[in-house]
Amino acid sequence: MTSIPIDDSALIAAARAVREHAYAPYSAYAVGAALACDDGTIVAACNVENASYGLSMCAERSAIFAAIAGGHRRFTAIAIVGPDRETTSPCGACRQVLAEYGATTRVLYAIPDGFEETTIGALLPEGFVLP
Ligand code: THU
Repeated sequence: MTSIPIDDSALIAAARAVREHAYAPYSAYAVGAALACDDGTIVAACNVENASYGLSMCAERSAIFAAIAGGHRRFTAIAIVGPDRETTSPCGACRQVLAEYGATTRVLYAIPDGFEETTIGALLPEGFVLP
């Protein structure tokens, strides 16, 4: 199936915009993530923290869960934006969740001078798969 391309700069802009909605009163580290779905849709979400710290959810997993709930299963890229001039690469849990939907998904994560481009397969070599 052919996928409808989404411009990287549009994806990054969506991640930046949704970051404004982050609920991060405990860490003060707001994150936005935007997923490019193969039908051309962008699904964006932010981190949501909780007074019971361990219940907090990262932006990337929030975006994946929202995308799945919206009927999307194929992703071409994800953009991740944190505070200005910080490196915000996805945590291990988010890598495992992203890897569920394919190793070739491009990952664009913020670094101090712009964006690093990689793939989920490169970020999570030998991730868990059920036998
Ligand atoms: N966080 C994300 O949402 N995504 C990342 O890639 C790194 C960390 C969140 C979790 C927590 O709410 C805050 O950033 C500080 O760790």
